[in-house]
Amino acid sequence: MGRGFSVAIVGATGAVGQEILNVLQERKFPVSDLRLLASSRSEGKKIAYKNEELTVRTAKPEAFEGIEIAFFAGGPVSKELVPEAVKKGAVAIDNSSTFRLEPWVPLVVPEVNPEDVEGHRGVIANPNCSTIIMVVPLKPLHDAGRIKRVIVSTYQAVSGAGREAIDELLLQTKQVLAGEPVRPQVFPYQIAFNLIPHIDVFWENGYSKEEMKMVLETQKILHDEEIKISATTVRVPVIRSHSESINIETEKKLTPAEAREILAKSPGIVVEDDPAGLKYPMPLFTSYRDEVFVGRIRADLSHEGCLNLWVAADQLRKGAATNAVQIAEILINRNLL
Ligand SMILES: NC(=O)c1ccc[n+]([C@@H]2O[C@H](COP(=O)([O-])OP(=O)(O)OC[C@H]3O[C@@H](n4cnc5c(N)ncnc54)[C@H](OP(=O)(O)O)[C@@H]3O)[C@@H](O)[C@H]2O)c1
Repeated sequence: MGRGFSVAIVGATGAVGQEILNVLQERKFPVSDLRLLASSRSEGKKIAYKNEELTVRTAKPEAFEGIEIAFFAGGPVSKELVPEAVKKGAVAIDNSSTFRLEPWVPLVVPEVNPEDVEGHRGVIANPNCSTIIMVVPLKPLHDAGRIKRVIVSTYQAVSGAGREAIDELLLQTKQVLAGEPVRPQVFPYQIAFNLIPHIDVFWENGYSKEEMKMVLETQKILHDEEIKISATTVRVPVIRSHSESINIETEKKLTPAEAREILAKSPGIVVEDDPAGLKYPMPLFTSYRDEVFVGRIRADLSHEGCLNLWVAADQLRKGAATNAVQIAEILINRNLL
C-alpha cells in the first residue's frame, strides 16, 4: 500500500462534493488528510467522513497550503481559486466549465483519453456530465467505425443543477399534488410534471451553452474536430441520472450486433439491451452506479450506416465525482502529482 495524499474538496457541501466524499471512501482512495471547503455560509458545519466528523472551512487561498490534490465542485469559484491552489503546489481537478476548453488544460475521461493527463500544468478539467456519459460509448464505436456525425437529445435529471434543484422538484411535486401554487426558483419554469428544453444560457446561434459543451468538449476529448454533433438538451423531472438518445453515423458501417459486442467489451460500460425481456437502461436503476448503461441498440431505418442508442448514467457519479476521482487515481498511478 502506497502513501496517503492530502486532499481538499471545494464545494464539499454540494451535490457533487458530497458524492466525491462517498466515492473516495468506496474506492479506498489513499487520503492522509482531508480538507472540506465551501462558501463562508458553511463555515463550521460538520460532515461525516469514515468514523470522523470533519469541519467545513471557507474556501480561500490559504486553505490550499500543503494540499496535493484539490477537487473543485464549487461552481464559478474555480476561476479565482484553481490558480491559487495550483500556486500552492496542488493539482486541481475541476468540475466547472471554466478551464475545459483552454488548449493547455487536459479534458479527461479515464476510459477515453487517460493519456491526456501527461504533461498537465496543474489543472485537469472534468468534462460536462452529459458529455462524459456520451463519450464513454462513442469512443469504442469511433475506434471501430469512425464516427462522422452524432445527433443527441438528453433527458437530464434535476440534480445536474445542484442540491437546491433536487429540493425544488420534491417541493413542487408536493405542492402540485396538494393543489398549492408553485413558485419556480432554480429553474425558469415549474419542473414537476413538466420538462424544460433549456439548460444553461442560450447562445446567439440558438443553441444552449449545455448543447455547445456537448459539441466542443466531445471534439476535444476525442481529438477529432471533424465529428459533427447536433445536441438538444432537456431538463426532466427525474432526481438523478441523465439519459440520452444518441444517433451516430459511422464511416464504416457497424451492425447493431457488432456495436453491442464492441460496447460490452469496453471499460465502464454495461450493455442492457433485451427489449423482449424489458431490459433497457432507466435512470431509476442507473442511479448510484458508476458505469454508463447502453441499450436499445438498433439500426436507423431512415439512414444507411446509422445506429440508435439509448444511454443512461448517474451524472453525479460518472458525470462528475467518479470521473474526477478516477483522474486522481491515474495521476497517482503515473506519478504525475
Ligand atoms: N450536479 C451535477 O450533476 C454536476 C455534474 C458535473 C459538473 N457539475 C459542476 O460541479 C460544480 C458543483 O455543482 P453541484 O451540482 O454540486 O452544485 P451545488 O449542489 O449547488 O453545490 C455548490 C457547492 O459550491 C459551494 N460554493 C458556492 N459558492 C462558493 C464560494 N464562493 N466559495 C466556495 N464554495 C462555494 C457551495 O457551498 P455552500 O453549501 O456553502 O453554499 C456548495 O458546496 C458546478 O461547477 C457544476 O457545474 C455538476
